Amino acid sequence: MDNTQKGKLTSGNNASYWIDSVPGISYDPLKENKVTDVVIVGAGISGLTTAYCLLKSGKKVIVVEDGNVGSGETGRTTAHLTSALDDRYYELERVYGEKNTRLIANSHKAAIDFIEKTVLNLNIECNFERLFGYLFLHPSDDRGSLTKELEAAKKAGLEVEEVPYLPGIKEQAQSLRFSGQAQFHPLKYIKGLCDAIINMGGHIFTSTHADKINHEGIVTADGIKVTAKHVVVATNSPVNNKFVMHLKQYPHRTYVIGAKIKKGSLPKALWWDTGDFSENKEIPPYHYVRTQALDDTHDLLICGGEDHPTGIAEQAKINEEDRYSLLEYWAKKYFPIEEVVYQWSGQVLEPMDSLAYIGRNPIDKNNVYIVTGDSGNGMTHGTIAGILLTDIINGKENDWEKLYSPSRFKIFAAGKTFFKELAGGTLAYLKNKSHDSKPVEVGTILTNEGKIIEVEGEKFGAYRDENGELHIIAAECSHLKCIIKWNNDEKSWDCPCHGSRFTHEGKVLNGPANKNLQYFSKNK
Ligand SMILES: Cc1cc2nc3c(=O)[nH]c(=O)nc-3n(C[C@H](O)[C@H](O)[C@H](O)COP(=O)(O)OP(=O)(O)OC[C@H]3O[C@@H](n4cnc5c(N)ncnc54)[C@H](O)[C@@H]3O)c2cc1C
Ligand code: FES
Repeated sequence: MDNTQKGKLTSGNNASYWIDSVPGISYDPLKENKVTDVVIVGAGISGLTTAYCLLKSGKKVIVVEDGNVGSGETGRTTAHLTSALDDRYYELERVYGEKNTRLIANSHKAAIDFIEKTVLNLNIECNFERLFGYLFLHPSDDRGSLTKELEAAKKAGLEVEEVPYLPGIKEQAQSLRFSGQAQFHPLKYIKGLCDAIINMGGHIFTSTHADKINHEGIVTADGIKVTAKHVVVATNSPVNNKFVMHLKQYPHRTYVIGAKIKKGSLPKALWWDTGDFSENKEIPPYHYVRTQALDDTHDLLICGGEDHPTGIAEQAKINEEDRYSLLEYWAKKYFPIEEVVYQWSGQVLEPMDSLAYIGRNPIDKNNVYIVTGDSGNGMTHGTIAGILLTDIINGKENDWEKLYSPSRFKIFAAGKTFFKELAGGTLAYLKNKSHDSKPVEVGTILTNEGKIIEVEGEKFGAYRDENGELHIIAAECSHLKCIIKWNNDEKSWDCPCHGSRFTHEGKVLNGPANKNLQYFSKNK
């Protein structure tokens, strides 16, 4: 791993293939007050695409980023660029109607076209390539669902057909073949965007945490101000929105392995199964697969899945770190994989009604915008955000505005699981309030274990590192005070209520929390 990345992988301990295969992308931190047209918080695909589009439209832009560029979920993605969305088109049609479903399909097609055009215009070497995507039935799914999806996706305007095969897969089966899909190396792509942003006179400041965010701009953790006419919060989970948005979406952790396969042994394609309905009927965790050139003899099969709501992996009796072997088992069944050389996890926000929330922040001034609820389609949703927010800020009408509005509230679209997860989060909150989580004696904590301890009626998170040193942090999440839980896979403290995450030293990794937890020395 490149040394400049150390300590700046802002969302976990494991390095993804993307982070491992390119130098870290960093700029100077912000050191003096600034005034600009638009300040953007977060340098993932959403923030950077928005910066790029706004600069092209003539606006002055400053981007501030807590870690390195791409050190959030954009560095942990699998980078399928797809209009075959996570949620089925027949579901989208039920919730949004035929006309709006066509608009949804079009927006994702437009996002892939935008990326392709940008790659060509800026000459970005990011392994962008068009390919087919294949959707096949999970054994737990109803056989009729592929037929339903075919009809709905065609109605939405996608180029899709049923074929009697699955390329490269040992077990042959019917599948839906989607044309016009694509893949790329996400960090190489956003490095290209950064270069263009700087060339157009924009500014990017890394290692710069936006501590206070409001309609006037931001103030960093070091007390430096950026005053702006418009404020875009592209932090994945909006750190400026305490309640409203966190009742409309739910955080899930998702897992990825990178396994060697003999070079050229698989065709280039994207593969998805329809998801495990025995695990979760409304958000069935599905497998997502692609390849990536690795070296002279091998390609990498990048395979993801085994999702669960953040902070409660053990409820399914499978801890975070054990999910990779399930992925490997599944991948071996279908693909000719050899050694697993990468494993990492990340977080996706599942909206109650399938689409991202992009636009004005609800219950706020008109000049504050958010991008969130990315689901597993954040590469295209983040690109849609760049196009849409630029139009909104420039006062230009855009058909997508209402569709993606963060103020929409389609409660009838949310299935039972959504309410169960929301209730689970609320229950975790109430339990913590009644001090119902079970602290342990500090002496029982083993090397590489994290547990909750109690001192004089107050709870703390205690993690013993590989050298036997104990790291103790305040255990109440800085969002709404739920008690955090240890995630031994990414060596982070995760909050079961709304998905905030912290390092073993209490540094905030994922929102909605935006403040660190107090870190105490081992002698406290
Ligand atoms: C394992 C995995 C696989 C996925 N696969 C796909 C896929 O195949 N296709 C697809 O379309 N999508 C996929 N997604 C989703 C997609 O990767 C994400 O939705 C997308 O990267 C989110 O981009 P973003 O810019 O909105 O957020 P991020 O990339 O998370 O960027 C937000 C940034 O904000 C910064 N930040 C946070 N708080 C502050 C603050 N206070 N001050 C300054 N900076 C701050 C963070 O450090 C971070 O860098 C996947 C996600 C995961 C985890
Ligand atoms: S994320 Fe909301 S209380 Fe922790």
